[in-house]
Amino acid sequence: MADIMPPDMLADVPPTPAGLLSNREKDRLIERGFLGLYRWYTARSQETRNWNADLSFDWRGMRKDTPDEIMTVLTGFFAVEQYAPDFTSNLVHLVRRSHGRSHFQMRWGSEEEKHADAWENAVLFSRQRSPEWIEEYKERLKAQTWELPFPDAIHNMVYTVFQERATQLNYLNMMKIAQGKSEKPHLKDYADPVLAKVAQTIAVDEAAHYNFFLEGVRMYLYYYPERTLKAIKAVISDFAMPAGHLIPDWEKFYETVYRVGIYGPRDFSRDVVQVAFRNLGIESRKALETGLRKTREVPDFEGKNFRTSIIWDTFDYGAIEGDIRRLHIKIQDYEKTVGFDQIDPTEFVENPEVPRKTEPATED
Ligand SMILES: [Fe+2]
Ligand SMILES: [Fe+2]
Repeated sequence: MADIMPPDMLADVPPTPAGLLSNREKDRLIERGFLGLYRWYTARSQETRNWNADLSFDWRGMRKDTPDEIMTVLTGFFAVEQYAPDFTSNLVHLVRRSHGRSHFQMRWGSEEEKHADAWENAVLFSRQRSPEWIEEYKERLKAQTWELPFPDAIHNMVYTVFQERATQLNYLNMMKIAQGKSEKPHLKDYADPVLAKVAQTIAVDEAAHYNFFLEGVRMYLYYYPERTLKAIKAVISDFAMPAGHLIPDWEKFYETVYRVGIYGPRDFSRDVVQVAFRNLGIESRKALETGLRKTREVPDFEGKNFRTSIIWDTFDYGAIEGDIRRLHIKIQDYEKTVGFDQIDPTEFVENPEVPRKTEPATED
């Protein structure tokens, strides 16, 4: 894959008006934020989520009569997570110039790798698929390569926010079924505590991934609102779960997760898009589309300030600024425990483009 330079790393043309941050400064601030967040994330990951795919679960205690539908679901989860090396290598390469992001992607990959092994163990210990079947299935999966869904860093990061949330939701709903809490009558009597623990453990990782990427998208939204909102719109207008097109029996998997009440289009709009939107200060898909349409209608040259004010009206910039401040406080607290604060602290810098109370946004 080509070494794609993220657009945010391009030099400033034309020169930045006085009092505003140049793109180079914005990129530096985002990079520092990512680096601090990545260091905080790694410490937390090791402290609270340091589980092992083989040793953390009572695999021998797994049920040997897992229903067919649940087997289809587990096999699908296993298949998607099998692409962890492709996901990781492609993403690391894409962001290789960013310390915080590329090192994070390796850490992330090491967590996704555990997910692949844990789901494989679940399929194996169910005793419903032979080791030979699993080996052959893996060979079929590995014969294909997962490629990035978008060519640039910002779109892929936005995509990952929605993907991690969707994945977390899939696993949480699997956990509920395995806890005996299915709302479907034919699964009411089914429960498997081992599987419930596996699904829960992995879902906690997915929540941590979602949060990391969410913080990243918030930083982009704060310093580069128009570009980020456009990326969000593009990503959700054509969203599909990763590797679906590579997995041989994807249709069956997709129908099954829907039928057993794990995941479907309604879950995507209600529990993925709406949740992520709330976390990004975006009121609705309609508000996003209207805001972006309005910015297109305004001329780019003389009306630049007006155009900018429309963009800030498209989302709750005050809430996002508060989130970014809190993120920096979290990073600074972490840096104090190490001593970085004495030498090279991560600092929050306000984006001067953000409308202030003394200088209200232009009404449309
Ligand atoms: Fe995962
Ligand atoms: Fe993940």
